[in-house]
Amino acid sequence: MCAVKAPPSYGYAFVTAHCFLPSGPLTGRIRVPGDKSISHRALMFGALAVGRSRISGLLEGEDVLATAAALRAMGARIERAGNAWVVDGVGVGGLLQPEQALDMGNSGTSTRLLMGLVASHGITAAFTGDASLSKRPMGRVIDPLSTMGASFTPSPGGTLPLVMEGMQPAVPVTYRLPVASAQVKSAVLLAGLNTPGITTVVEPVPTRDHTERMLRGFGAELTVEDADGERIIRIHGPADLHPCDITVPGDPSSAAFFAVAASVVPGSDLVVENVGLNPTRDGIFRVLAQMGANIDMLDEREVGGEPVADLRVRHAALKGIEVDPAIAPSMIDEFPVLFVAAAMAEGTTLTSGLDELRVKESDRLSAMAAALTAAGVTLEEREDGLVITGSGGDPLRGTANSRVATHLDHRIAMSMAVAGLASREGIEIDDIEPIATSFPNFTALLDAAAS
Ligand code: S3P
Repeated sequence: MCAVKAPPSYGYAFVTAHCFLPSGPLTGRIRVPGDKSISHRALMFGALAVGRSRISGLLEGEDVLATAAALRAMGARIERAGNAWVVDGVGVGGLLQPEQALDMGNSGTSTRLLMGLVASHGITAAFTGDASLSKRPMGRVIDPLSTMGASFTPSPGGTLPLVMEGMQPAVPVTYRLPVASAQVKSAVLLAGLNTPGITTVVEPVPTRDHTERMLRGFGAELTVEDADGERIIRIHGPADLHPCDITVPGDPSSAAFFAVAASVVPGSDLVVENVGLNPTRDGIFRVLAQMGANIDMLDEREVGGEPVADLRVRHAALKGIEVDPAIAPSMIDEFPVLFVAAAMAEGTTLTSGLDELRVKESDRLSAMAAALTAAGVTLEEREDGLVITGSGGDPLRGTANSRVATHLDHRIAMSMAVAGLASREGIEIDDIEPIATSFPNFTALLDAAAS
């Protein structure tokens, strides 16, 4: 059985290792924190409205707090008031030049969306981030924002740290997304908010549409047209945003860890309440169902303009499948935990078309291949996916004498925590601190559900 030891061989001081041990059934009712994507956007659009917006259910994770801090540095007032957050916006066009570099921490969404905002304001902003974020490609937003008039130094090829200078007025463009990315789509649309004329994004493969839904709610003139399987999104600028009251639904990406945990730990019967089920985000639950998971959607309803349900998840014998790559954008953050489900299934699970996983908070294909291999799983790492041979429901061996490397990636840490519950010897993870970026009470909820 693994036991947490003092971190021996690290050159830095604050690494928090943790051992996730085999657990009994997950039962009862839990509620996961608010959706990360929606929380970022609620703060940003509130900051650009004229007047006071109220947000309830905001995710108070480090990534979202980085967005809040950056918006404050550009003039918005953002405060917690009781159980809600209030945002006093500066109006589209009203962002102020920040006096210091904007520290984006681990958050790609904060970085790319805020770059979109800065691009069409006449201000200069420096962006910095942690070691993981500083490796991630920013060229994908630098390219379209440059054509709109923004400029970037020092490296146009683009990784953080970098300084960008916005352009006012910016130039409206039509941009066809070369990668399926809601962050890039949103960056261009947000730049379009303060750009006179029509800014158009052509999306060959649909990605999460929270920006479109919420911008309309804030009063922006935004249209979405489906043409030959592509989505054409047009935003008319400059936009006037009016303040809104927003309720953020629970994050399906966070719920996914519990859906897989309850599916693979025998005897489990768990309800995860208030889970957002936007069709551009719910791919994981569809794939788990194809694998034989027992998930009921209870009390389907709408919260804050998004479909929501309570998920009842009971243990089930999973079977391996070939995952259709077309479903990837609707579960792009859930592959690490899907790989854990695959490791516990009967037979082989084949995934492909997942090149994007190599440029997330870590290279998630290689990080999960290494982590699951260390836990005793048989798999093959391919360029664009993993092929995993499942245990047929038997517990995974666990990490015995090694420690899983999470590479500052919250989702690797949480996925391997779930694997630990379904292991014989437990799974030791080198650093659980990154979990706080998206799911600060993850371990507390896991303890509550498994006790
Ligand atoms: C996000 C989009 C996705 C996702 C990320 C959040 C968003 O990134 O992985 O966690 O809120 O727009 P990409 O746009 O890079 O696919």
